[in-house]
Amino acid sequence: MIKIKLEGCNSFVKPGEYAAYMKKAFDAFDVLRDENGAGNDFLGWKALPSETPESLISDCEAIRDAWKAKGVDLVVVIGIGGSYLGAKCAVEALSHAFVRPAGRPQVVFAGNNLSEEYLAELMDLAKMRNTAVIVISKSGTTTEPAVAFRIFKEYIEQTYGKAEAAERIVAITDAKKGALKTLSTQEGYKTFVVPDNVGGRFSVLTPVGLLPIAVAGFDIRAMLKGAAEEREALLVKSEDNAAIRYAAMRNLLHTEGGKAVEILVTYNPKLTYLAEWWKQLYGESEGKDGKGIFPASVANTADLHSMGQFIQEGSRVMFETVVSVGKSQREVVIGSDAQNLDQLNYLAGQHVEHCNAMAQLGTQLAHIDGGVPQMEVAIEKIDEANLGAIFYFFEFACGISAYVLGVNPFNQPGVEAYKKNMFALLRKPGYEAQTEAILKRI
Ligand code: PA5
Repeated sequence: MIKIKLEGCNSFVKPGEYAAYMKKAFDAFDVLRDENGAGNDFLGWKALPSETPESLISDCEAIRDAWKAKGVDLVVVIGIGGSYLGAKCAVEALSHAFVRPAGRPQVVFAGNNLSEEYLAELMDLAKMRNTAVIVISKSGTTTEPAVAFRIFKEYIEQTYGKAEAAERIVAITDAKKGALKTLSTQEGYKTFVVPDNVGGRFSVLTPVGLLPIAVAGFDIRAMLKGAAEEREALLVKSEDNAAIRYAAMRNLLHTEGGKAVEILVTYNPKLTYLAEWWKQLYGESEGKDGKGIFPASVANTADLHSMGQFIQEGSRVMFETVVSVGKSQREVVIGSDAQNLDQLNYLAGQHVEHCNAMAQLGTQLAHIDGGVPQMEVAIEKIDEANLGAIFYFFEFACGISAYVLGVNPFNQPGVEAYKKNMFALLRKPGYEAQTEAILKRI
């Protein structure tokens, strides 16, 4: 279960403000629970933990097993934004940082950039391996994954033959429409559906996240169970509801305290992509109509040696939300040294994680002294259940928070602007007028 601590904000809040913002968050909770707010046709994510059918889970596991039987040792997951970050986050968090266990494929990601070098180097890897592909696009028309998929489709067909390609390519897309759906039907690919009523950034507990996570060898049943338990807790309207409290405090700090930036702080490299996933969730959900808290992140303690100076003493525009982890699953104890030239014997016998915890606490206290309010979101350990819980927590809190802010959390009209210019510059048919206009500007 997610725990939230707000004590690190106390000195920044005036009497009565927190109660006033809890009232706003309770009202927003009602809107989200009763599904009568803006964007309420995109609330399918709310029920996913408890309503995901067994058949979908076992279909994901069947792909995992079929590819294992073929000896697949590289799975290229093609997607961008919400069709990429949840799976990437889970795979990074749950995998051994350096060693791939025998029998598990390496899961890598493509289609999230347009770098030629990235694709060429990934193709170098594919050529050394036994490769399969998962292509994910809800719309089925997004340029970055479409380009990567065209290249990998050709490679898979040339390497394994057309019939075998249909066994090694799985598509996750809309149930009926879009180029990827049409292509998958024509080529006979196994397909999974992104539900109509779930937006990309809320889709980690659909096949968009579940299939890559299962194929990587992780327990999606435990992840859904963790999310379901968190859902039960968050559906209770109370002063203790962690999502209501988080939504209330971040809006208070923003609106009353003038804080424009929220930094998600992690102290374990396994959680770096949790922050990337969170940034998309909050950035796309809240950043519209001239409003929003800019979501940023730091990965400590590394970033204390790069961004720490700014956070301690720079423009006072930010507050921090620290994701803390209760228990390290591995033990490394610092030894004693007869010479003690590094003067670290005072740490002899201590776990490295104890030093990490003291770095976290010391930083939080210093940042409070420096004028940076501190929230803390705590998980017990990094495993499937806790990841399911934190995914659901941040999604639910995002809905409440955006309603408090007064925006529709579930649309993203602004992401189209760059695409129009890019298509015009690439001279996509149908964009001739925009091409002419844009060439005058450059
Ligand atoms: O959250 C979102 O809606 C976006 O980030 C999309 O997930 C992203 O643009 C990819 O879209 P699609 O899945 O349609 O290719």
